[in-house]
Amino acid sequence: MSIPPPNFVEREFKEPLLCGPGPCNLGPSVREALTKPVFSPLCEQFFSALDDIRAGIKYVFQTKSNLVLAISGSGHSGMETVITNLVGPKETLLIATRGIWDERAYDIAKRLGIKTIVYRVPYNTTFTLEELERQVELYRPTAMFITHGDSSTGTVQNLEGLGDICHKYGTLLLVDTVVSLGGVPFFMDAWGVDAVYTSTQKALSGPAGISPVAFSARAEQKIKNRKHETSFYFDINLLAQQWNCYGNTRSYHHTMSPPLVWALRECLRQLSIETLEKSWERHAKTSRYFYERLQRLPIEFLVPNPEHRLTTVATLVLPNGYNYNDVVKYLREKHNIIIFPGLGPTAGKSLRIGIMGVNSTVAVADALADALADALQTLVKSSL
Ligand code: GLV
Repeated sequence: MSIPPPNFVEREFKEPLLCGPGPCNLGPSVREALTKPVFSPLCEQFFSALDDIRAGIKYVFQTKSNLVLAISGSGHSGMETVITNLVGPKETLLIATRGIWDERAYDIAKRLGIKTIVYRVPYNTTFTLEELERQVELYRPTAMFITHGDSSTGTVQNLEGLGDICHKYGTLLLVDTVVSLGGVPFFMDAWGVDAVYTSTQKALSGPAGISPVAFSARAEQKIKNRKHETSFYFDINLLAQQWNCYGNTRSYHHTMSPPLVWALRECLRQLSIETLEKSWERHAKTSRYFYERLQRLPIEFLVPNPEHRLTTVATLVLPNGYNYNDVVKYLREKHNIIIFPGLGPTAGKSLRIGIMGVNSTVAVADALADALADALQTLVKSSL
């Protein structure tokens, strides 16, 4: 053998408290679900789990749509699926841009040969429906992409009424809810959303790697009539057959990961037991409590307007003299708490602190506020 087997050293991992913008810690029953038996992707037990998941996805997105399923992949796979299935090369995608996920949508669309129009607002604010309507009216794009909760900026976008605006001009509305779903109200049908995706590792307290998506009847129509091909892996027509969206097709497309399927099913089951309303209320209450605790510290919000602040992820500005990376490192090393520095437009400008899913509790908010107070007191001020 020219390549000898590597020596895998034993590594000790102490589970941290995950309070970045995601991943969040796993729920206890989700952790257990990951160890359920592995089934073949074509057996009845597996198909019935997929049926349960589809029912759960309809609930969490609040949609009666048929075309709902989960993509095997991270949140980006959901993003790529909604874009590639609905917008063809040379068609136009308007991207309402305020954070890094919109930049990713731009990157994906460019690679697919889609014409892109970027409409930007400052990263620490959100869009008014009036300005979005002006853009849609001006360009009449095939679709508009917008992020509901943005984990890079800590903002939440008002979407109520946006679907009607888009439809007036023949435009489809595509929405990223990766860091908002389960933590913040979202209503796919009532808000006229045509395609939406989310991820499991944020407010759903699951492992990353399987991403719920849903398409409206209007989007289904577009898919039926589209002229362009999509990649095999993200082709929603083939996936819909595997997920039995239209009758008992139950065909084989790719081998899904049974542990992730069990985990997603459990995330959705837990949220259904708690109910969306109670989960939204718990997240709002915990973040209010955390903000109150922060008032005792010399910390400011990056997002000036409280109505634009995302409940699940706070972007916080430290006084001059503190280095964001030092504070992140201190919390990790001294308190075993993971928080993140800024990302994309907020890099070097803020901390990003996520309190979501099973971590949305007063105890976690207290632990975080205490650790931050300790960090600010202990760290020698270094110039930024
Ligand atoms: C990942 O989702 C991040 O916000 O860093």
